[in-house]
Amino acid sequence: MTESSAYAVLHSSSSSVVITHDSAVPRVVHWGARLPEGVDAAGFGPLDDLAVPQGGLDLVPALSLLPERSRGWSAYGGLDAHRPDGRDWAPRLVRTSSTHEGDAFTWSGSDPVAGVSVSVRARLDEHGVLTVAADVTNHGDAELTVAALAPVLPVPARADETLTLVGRWAKEMQEKRTVVERGALVLENRRGRTSHESSPTVMVGTRSFDEEHGEVWAAHLGWSGNHHVRVEALPDGRRYICLAELLLPGEVRLVSGESYSTPTLFAAYSGHGLGGISDAFHEHVRSRHGHVRTPRPVLLNTWEAVYFRHDVVELQRLADVAASVGVERFVLDDGWFRGRDDDTTSLGDWFVDERKYPNGLEELADHVVALGMEFGLWFEPEMVNEDSDLFREHPEWVLGIEGQEPVRGRHQLVLDLDRPEVSAYLLGRLHALLSDVPVAYIKWDMNRDLVAAGHRGGAAGVHRQTVALYALLDGLRLRHPDVEIESCSSGGARIDLGIAARTDRFWTSDCNDALERQRIQRAFSYLLPPELMGAHVGPTWAHTTARTHTLPFRAATAMFGHLGFEWDLATATPEDRAGVAQVIEVHKRHRALLHHGRVVRVDHPDTSALVHGVVAHDGGEALFSYAQLTTTDATTPAPMRLVGLDPARRYRVERVALPGAVWSPGKHQPAWYDDGLEADGALLSLVGLPLGVHVPESATLVHAIAIG
Ligand code: DGJ
Repeated sequence: MTESSAYAVLHSSSSSVVITHDSAVPRVVHWGARLPEGVDAAGFGPLDDLAVPQGGLDLVPALSLLPERSRGWSAYGGLDAHRPDGRDWAPRLVRTSSTHEGDAFTWSGSDPVAGVSVSVRARLDEHGVLTVAADVTNHGDAELTVAALAPVLPVPARADETLTLVGRWAKEMQEKRTVVERGALVLENRRGRTSHESSPTVMVGTRSFDEEHGEVWAAHLGWSGNHHVRVEALPDGRRYICLAELLLPGEVRLVSGESYSTPTLFAAYSGHGLGGISDAFHEHVRSRHGHVRTPRPVLLNTWEAVYFRHDVVELQRLADVAASVGVERFVLDDGWFRGRDDDTTSLGDWFVDERKYPNGLEELADHVVALGMEFGLWFEPEMVNEDSDLFREHPEWVLGIEGQEPVRGRHQLVLDLDRPEVSAYLLGRLHALLSDVPVAYIKWDMNRDLVAAGHRGGAAGVHRQTVALYALLDGLRLRHPDVEIESCSSGGARIDLGIAARTDRFWTSDCNDALERQRIQRAFSYLLPPELMGAHVGPTWAHTTARTHTLPFRAATAMFGHLGFEWDLATATPEDRAGVAQVIEVHKRHRALLHHGRVVRVDHPDTSALVHGVVAHDGGEALFSYAQLTTTDATTPAPMRLVGLDPARRYRVERVALPGAVWSPGKHQPAWYDDGLEADGALLSLVGLPLGVHVPESATLVHAIAIG
């Protein structure tokens, strides 16, 4: 306890955070490189005394964790709230209590005149992830409408380049760099789910930061609803980042005694480029209670194999083939429930379709289990089709605005989960099915944006819906703690640390095209570790792009996640099936490394290729991928550096054989392609391996194992 200190100092293994600890709302005065143990915290005083220029206010408005309008703050962030008559919109907070214990800091304050109190919590874990959350409570008699409660974090002026992840369906998480010299970079998401379009993640760094170089400050909002992401350079030269829930008009109205809590903001600093950021986030995620620790079962998902064509005999045959090649989990996708023959009907009617499954779903599930595989089942619980028994019975259960024709998405409407009877119905149906059928895994889908979402036909309801979704998932997990859940939202539209606390895998993208996947998966890896990344080998002909790729390229791409297949293996050629068996064998051989090791994305000089790998934490082994996306800039590929190997150790390096012939136009490939080689980690990581000539859309996997 350091109550008397004016500053609280938090340390992780690689960074430190210093926060003011006095009567005013806390300010972060240092978030960056690790300071020495026992640093003189009081020494921050003089460093924290900013000049007041001519021509403006007579003070420098504090860039606190929740900046206050009442103290001159004129940018974004902090608390924006008001009473019905417009009053109490600028509370002036004074501390009521604060503590600093170990790695955690909390501060509470109130404005008795405005009738509000606020508390803010910050914690820096040993891996370097800073979490920040806040809440506001209404102590007045009148309702308090909260427009925003948005914590902000300062970054230094030298951090003027941003990296954001933006995209669209089937092309998610595309990297976008922007230099912010003055003013703000803002991404706003009002799609009601995390979205394909803008990830609630931002990285800000020194100019041209890359994987291995530069200082980077990264932040992510653990929230699956609407969000506001902002990086702003103020006229006085200070900068901040802000990630907050974007509240729609009137969404949070607190009656006396009620509180609103922000989602958690997760932040990390690295002095060594983006690699240090993913190191921190991955180890933070892995240290969570409930993080998946068992070997990730190789799965087969039926979607691109059969779509809505569910025939028990055909599916049993598919399961037979899947088991024979080494698949461990068989996931029955959309199409199994009453009347669901295409995407226009039946969502909401969570009863087995007796036309397709006359002997119940158990017949197929038992068959799958008898083959030694787990059975997984697709649901889209939040949705309803108008052509469904559920909607005919309860048209009032949907979100919408009274008197307005609803906005449909994929022919569906959204159920109002905040109505207790709706969540009870869904929980009841899920519970019944999970009790009757041996389901070990749920693919939880959500296939439309949540727009014009009025709760009970009126007030904007995305906030309530998101909270209710979390409660529904929590309720299901309580009843079925051993069932794993995949977060799928049209592939990639619900990837965030809010839903991650309740799920065990992400369906990364509906795009199974390996070329597109190389970039999508690289961006996914900034925040989340590979064991949570669903990565499927799709059919030879990619269904979303009509591109054709070889099995080795598809396999090398999917290898680095939680591997699955989404392909009608029952009709695949014997060569393809043998190839799939070999891919699965390779994956199983390496998955302990792939799903626990340190992810390394290499700064490769030729932008036509991507190099990445996973290195064991003790440096004992590594698996790397060289993926040739387009034709090389030079005639010969630049050497592939195996970054992250222990420079002091010696390694045996070999190419990992993947099935299928890859045409190589070279006259000669380096000798190590056939014989392997032995070299010091220092040479492999600094000089790199010479590569053979690669055609576009081909890849080489390399395994390194320490021999000394
Ligand atoms: C969207 C998902 O991302 C797909 O994988 C599949 O489950 C379909 N929905 C089913 O409707």
